[in-house]
Amino acid sequence: MSDALTLPARTLTNDASWWRQAVVYQVYPRAFADSDGDGVGDLPGITSRVPYLRELGVDAVWLSPFYPSALADGGYDVDDYRDVDPRLGTLADFDEMVAALHAAGIRIVVDIVPNHTSDRHAWFREALASPRGSAARARYVFRDGRGPDGAEPPADWESVFGGPAWEPVGDGQWYLHHFAPEQPDLNWSNPEVREDFLTTLRFWSDRGVDGFRVDVAHGLAKDLPDPLPSAAELEAMPKDGTHPLWDRDDVHEIYAEWREVFDSYDPPRTAVAEAWVAADRRARYASPAGLGQAFNFDLLEADFDARQFRDVITFNLGLADVSGSSTTWVFSNHDVVRHATRYGLPPRGAGTEKHGKQWLLDGGPEDQLDRELGLRRARAATLLQLALPGSSYIYQGEELGLHEVADIPDDARQDPTYFRSAGAEVGRDGCRVPLPWDTDGASLGFGGPAQLPQPAWFRRHAVSVQEADAGSTLNLYRRALRLRAELQCDEALEWLEAGDPDVLAFRRPNGWTSVTNFGEAPVELPAGEVLLASAPLDGKLPGATTVWLRG
Ligand code: GLC
Repeated sequence: MSDALTLPARTLTNDASWWRQAVVYQVYPRAFADSDGDGVGDLPGITSRVPYLRELGVDAVWLSPFYPSALADGGYDVDDYRDVDPRLGTLADFDEMVAALHAAGIRIVVDIVPNHTSDRHAWFREALASPRGSAARARYVFRDGRGPDGAEPPADWESVFGGPAWEPVGDGQWYLHHFAPEQPDLNWSNPEVREDFLTTLRFWSDRGVDGFRVDVAHGLAKDLPDPLPSAAELEAMPKDGTHPLWDRDDVHEIYAEWREVFDSYDPPRTAVAEAWVAADRRARYASPAGLGQAFNFDLLEADFDARQFRDVITFNLGLADVSGSSTTWVFSNHDVVRHATRYGLPPRGAGTEKHGKQWLLDGGPEDQLDRELGLRRARAATLLQLALPGSSYIYQGEELGLHEVADIPDDARQDPTYFRSAGAEVGRDGCRVPLPWDTDGASLGFGGPAQLPQPAWFRRHAVSVQEADAGSTLNLYRRALRLRAELQCDEALEWLEAGDPDVLAFRRPNGWTSVTNFGEAPVELPAGEVLLASAPLDGKLPGATTVWLRG
């Protein structure tokens, strides 16, 4: 099967717009491939799987953090921004990986985590060893505690992962951490912090990195008034660019500086913002004068529903026109319940449970999840996604049709949200289980003992099993990506009248047409040459199926 799909060699050009319609594959390195059997996926493991990525047909790899880290938050607690975690390899291994990816025509995007360092970063250690008011503390956000001896936190704020957002350091001062206590927030009004990140961006750009995924891009700029507002007051403040903590207008001054660094390379380095902001504020992050692109998580948050999909797509293509960027489509990543699982759950409507978290919390997953339906819908949604203008971000394992792993034993859990919510939130470990490559070998070919245990059903999803099955999800992705590369055209889309509220149809300028039946009953297959379908067609377009046509 894989022979039939082998793709021609590809060489990278200096095309400055390569990212606009790229398919970017997210690698969560510790769970991808383990070359030395220590149970931690590593950089040589990624290098060894470059042929797989090439065969899959992705344009770029985005690597979640691979830096030295105590893993208080899966690597998003960075000890040193200009090194590789020794468990994952060395800088030489990094260079080899980049060379192998580039030789295969695949670009590399690395995750950069500028909102916070880890508490083991040299700067934070120095801050703890230095007195209040020192230059070392001014790199972070320290405040005096309230009450006698400063024994009370400076404010009642809650962190994103639950629990207090301020942590005492024993001398009456406290530091701010939006996330875990092991992730102290940096003070971005400090020129030294700004300068150091420019050095980091150059460091990786000089090593051949093509772009950056910017973690919590909307959090860096802060302007804390004195006295500090309460959590309730903060919550009531408008998120219009003047909020003390989130999505401040002045954050874009930082990205304008970054842009100068990006543009000093040929081709210019790219960036994509992870910014959980109101949709109408996203365009500034995506501006060519700033980071250049921003994630849009709207499809990820939508139900499997024709109306919702159409609204989200129309709206985001409009935003892309405003920003001058291309839009981004995402269904799964390392922070959310996998989309095959979300789509297999009873509809819960708009609201707080959109990511399917509630299903996991309910603790009785198997009887509520329709695995088959979920995967069928996920395949349909992905095929629709891959026909859209703009870039598509896909997350390791979705090409294997993996579901979320719900039954991780409590003592194996790693996500800080689980611990900080005292188990009330199970957290994100269920999408971070090491990939199944084979039906045997250490941890199904992952290479070492899987730290998050693989369930028995992972074997059925192994790469080797799917390569041999023409109808597998892996082969669907491979075919779709190959066709997409052939069919790619201008970033425009025309909606076609399908005459059925459950059917969504659109055409790209060159006649490439995608039709999705979101309903249950089969509908007439539209005219045109069938190029690919997410499920067998039988002369009709069945429910929960997408077809690509040349019309
Ligand atoms: C982003 C990352 C997430 C991490 C958080 C703190 O949201 O995607 O995994 O926990 O930032 O760095």
